[in-house]
Amino acid sequence: MCKIKIKTVLFLTVLEIVLVTTAAFKETCEFDREMEEQCRIHNYKTVKPLLDYFRQVRNELEHKEIKESKSNELNSDLREKHHEIVRIHEKFMKEAALLDEYKNKVLKGEDDLQTCQNKVHKFEPEINSKQNIIVKLKEELADKSSHFENCELQFKNLNSRFSENIQNITEHQKTIELQLEQSKTKLIKNEKENQLCRAELDKLSLTSCIPFGDSDIHQLNVSGVGLFDVLCDSQLAGPGWIVIQQRVGGNESFNRDWATYRKGFGSYKSDFFLGLEKIHRIASLKRHELYIHLVTLNGSIYNARYDDFKISDEDSGYKISLGKFNGTIIEDAMRYHENMKFTTFDRDNDIGDGNCAVDYESGWWYGGCANCNLNAPYGGYLHWWVENKIELKEAKMLIRPKRSDVEVSN
Ligand SMILES: *[C@@H]1O[C@H](CO)[C@@H](O)[C@H](O)[C@H]1NC(C)=O
Ligand SMILES: *[C@@H]1O[C@H](CO)[C@@H](O)[C@H](O)[C@H]1NC(C)=O
Ligand SMILES: *[C@@H]1O[C@H](CO)[C@@H](O)[C@H](O)[C@H]1NC(C)=O
Ligand SMILES: *[C@@H]1O[C@H](CO)[C@@H](O)[C@H](O)[C@H]1NC(C)=O
Ligand SMILES: *[C@@H]1O[C@H](CO)[C@@H](O)[C@H](O)[C@H]1NC(C)=O
Repeated sequence: MCKIKIKTVLFLTVLEIVLVTTAAFKETCEFDREMEEQCRIHNYKTVKPLLDYFRQVRNELEHKEIKESKSNELNSDLREKHHEIVRIHEKFMKEAALLDEYKNKVLKGEDDLQTCQNKVHKFEPEINSKQNIIVKLKEELADKSSHFENCELQFKNLNSRFSENIQNITEHQKTIELQLEQSKTKLIKNEKENQLCRAELDKLSLTSCIPFGDSDIHQLNVSGVGLFDVLCDSQLAGPGWIVIQQRVGGNESFNRDWATYRKGFGSYKSDFFLGLEKIHRIASLKRHELYIHLVTLNGSIYNARYDDFKISDEDSGYKISLGKFNGTIIEDAMRYHENMKFTTFDRDNDIGDGNCAVDYESGWWYGGCANCNLNAPYGGYLHWWVENKIELKEAKMLIRPKRSDVEVSN
């Protein structure tokens, strides 16, 4: 470096000399072109060594320049290499630091591992005991599992038996239903046969109008009184009633003696009384209902029903009993006469002083006379007593065996 500087200074000095010389020469030579050639020769002679030297210097210089550039190149290369080394060093340092870090970490990891291992050692017995428990539990589970399987099997067994049973029951039910149906039809058939049989029997000993079911005159055959005609009614209050007394505006006299009341009188086409003995005999065979049909003077129609009508025998005075009242008429006027004996003008069974049958010109179940009297003459006496006297223009008494009753043995 230092050498190159010295050379450059030398070179510059030489160059300065040359330039001064040349300038002087130029001044000299500028005036005369003729002198030019001479000058050139002169100059040449003077300058030539200089030029040579100069050329030499320049060559050397060039050489040096090349060398210098090469040196520069090498220099920069060196610098670059230096940088690179620095970089590598830095990198190395960094990696070393990292390595240190890693080392620390590894050391720490080792520590952790140690503590972990310690812990593991500490837990080992616990784990062992837990394992034992697990093994035990597994055994138990296996046991339970087999038990469960057993249970399941039993359940399946029961289930199949149950469904079988259900099937059996259903089938059984069906058979029972079938039997029930058959029984029902049999029962219905039996009932029909029974009815027919009863009708046959009734024909032998007819005691009611039910087998006829119309409104006409039919013959009954009742034990104790034998054969006799009755007027049946199936219009007033349903089918099968026997009319035992009728007041429809006829002029039949009801002022009759005991024997006539006992036997009966009048015409079925008009007013009549069937007869106490017949009524007693019929109503004694079965439980009977009594239906009383009433027509007031102004034409209003009422009824009174009693659900257990009877008349005692002649020795007891043909005492009347009624049962429960029901009907459209407001008051149960017949109740007053319950348990009263029959009274005629020739047989006084009433509880009054005189003879009510004489007073009211008719036989009846008088007490201290009457709250109602359906045998009395028309025009005042024929009445039904409710608070005020209701005068009647028509009256009928009907009887019929009560449905769903039991035969009454005598
Ligand atoms: C089902 O009924 C059959 C015969 O009707 C009988 O043999 C069987 O035992 C019954 N099954 C059960 C579960 O009752
Ligand atoms: C009337 O009924 C009796 C039985 O109560 C019977 O013996 C008699 O033969 C019957 N009379 C007639 C004509 O059917
Ligand atoms: C009413 O009775 C009398 C005798 O008491 C009789 O002569 C007359 O024909 C009867 N009148 C009627 C419509 O039945
Ligand atoms: C008939 O008279 C009774 C009172 O006795 C009365 O309650 C009824 O409304 C009358 N009926 C007619 C149709 O006039
Ligand atoms: C009275 O008779 C009517 C008509 O037949 C009936 O509907 C009613 O249930 C009867 N009442 C009693 C208490 O028997």
